[in-house]
Amino acid sequence: MGLFSGKNNLTPEKILEALRAVQEPKSKRDIVALNMVKNLAVSGAGISLTIAVSDPAYPFKDTVEKDVRAVLAKLGSDKEVAIQWGAPPPAPRGGTPQGRADIPGVKSIVAVASGKGGVGKTTVAVNLAVALAQAGSKVGLLDADVYGPNVPTMLGLNGQPVARGNQIIPLEGYGLKVMSMGFLNPGDKPLIWRGPMLHQVMQQFIRQVEWGETDYLIIDLPPGTGDVQLSLIQTVPVTAAILVTTPSVVALADVRKAIEMFRQVKVEILGIVENMSYFLCPHCGERSEIFSYGEGKTTAEQFKIPFLGEIPLHAGIRLHGDAGKPPVSLGEDAPEAKPFFDLAGKVADALSTLASRTPATPLVQIT
Ligand SMILES: Nc1ncnc2c1ncn2[C@@H]1O[C@H](COP(=O)(O)OP(=O)(O)O)[C@@H](O)[C@H]1O
Ligand SMILES: [Mg+2]
Repeated sequence: MGLFSGKNNLTPEKILEALRAVQEPKSKRDIVALNMVKNLAVSGAGISLTIAVSDPAYPFKDTVEKDVRAVLAKLGSDKEVAIQWGAPPPAPRGGTPQGRADIPGVKSIVAVASGKGGVGKTTVAVNLAVALAQAGSKVGLLDADVYGPNVPTMLGLNGQPVARGNQIIPLEGYGLKVMSMGFLNPGDKPLIWRGPMLHQVMQQFIRQVEWGETDYLIIDLPPGTGDVQLSLIQTVPVTAAILVTTPSVVALADVRKAIEMFRQVKVEILGIVENMSYFLCPHCGERSEIFSYGEGKTTAEQFKIPFLGEIPLHAGIRLHGDAGKPPVSLGEDAPEAKPFFDLAGKVADALSTLASRTPATPLVQIT
């Protein structure tokens, strides 16, 4: 049961989870962990999947197939089950993450993350998204910070998303399709959900929202590197992550943890953005370096991660953010908007090089 539960609740994710009960006889490890389940598809007609083994004369086909069928039967589905045997596709760089099913129509997913809160993660996510949309791309923005959803405020958006059939229609503003917990739980009432519920809501936000044809789906992740962030990243087919930090030593210590986290789950880090890099006086235009300017770049070099640029501390950024009018909407010539346009250009470039290096291999298809 979820917020938008439909009648067909046997999802590829649930099936994949259940299939962890099937053991591969030779290695005694589960077939999902071994990445043997491919092309899992659920449709009205039935369930189909491929079991991938590299050995064409694999001796345990019958046992594995029998166990898979038994697990599927236990799920209570009366659907036809079609099992094929096949060779595994070449693994993408860094191994094959499991359970990160592609989202039909969504070309790339960029997670905006930070080691700590208050560094401007939401500001960057929102303005990056709007800048990409102004450049003519189709952009979605998912506010995954369910405990502190600030995206609606920064875009001046409110309203209740409506459902169409099994799908939720996202709200629209500044050319973006937007989904946020803030639309469903407006006001100051805190959410007191624990992991599993949160996980389920995020799955719905990702998979049951009508994102449609989308070039970039930007996700504003919750701050930090805990379980919530991990489980989110592991279930979403994130193309790459952007790390936002301030140049202060404490923020940088946390960004190192975030780098570690993404490396562990094998998500490409597109780069580091240094926010509140220096102070740009809105009156005289003079620049002062309040924090230890440049540390973001140094950290990026240390970890061999691209540096995506600096965003100054500018009163206009805060004022416009609070007023629900992203600075980027002022146009490229505004000093508080320019750095975000530069960032959007670098992100788009970096993603296109990434795409030419890693062909997308859908692990699970949802039909
Ligand atoms: N470069 C900046 N200049 C001025 N204010 C900023 C800047 N970046 C963020 N802010 C302000 O700082 C506060 C925290 O930023 P926010 O994006 O909500 O951070 P996070 O999502 O990391 O918690 C907000 O009020 C925002 O408007
Ligand atoms: Mg935020």
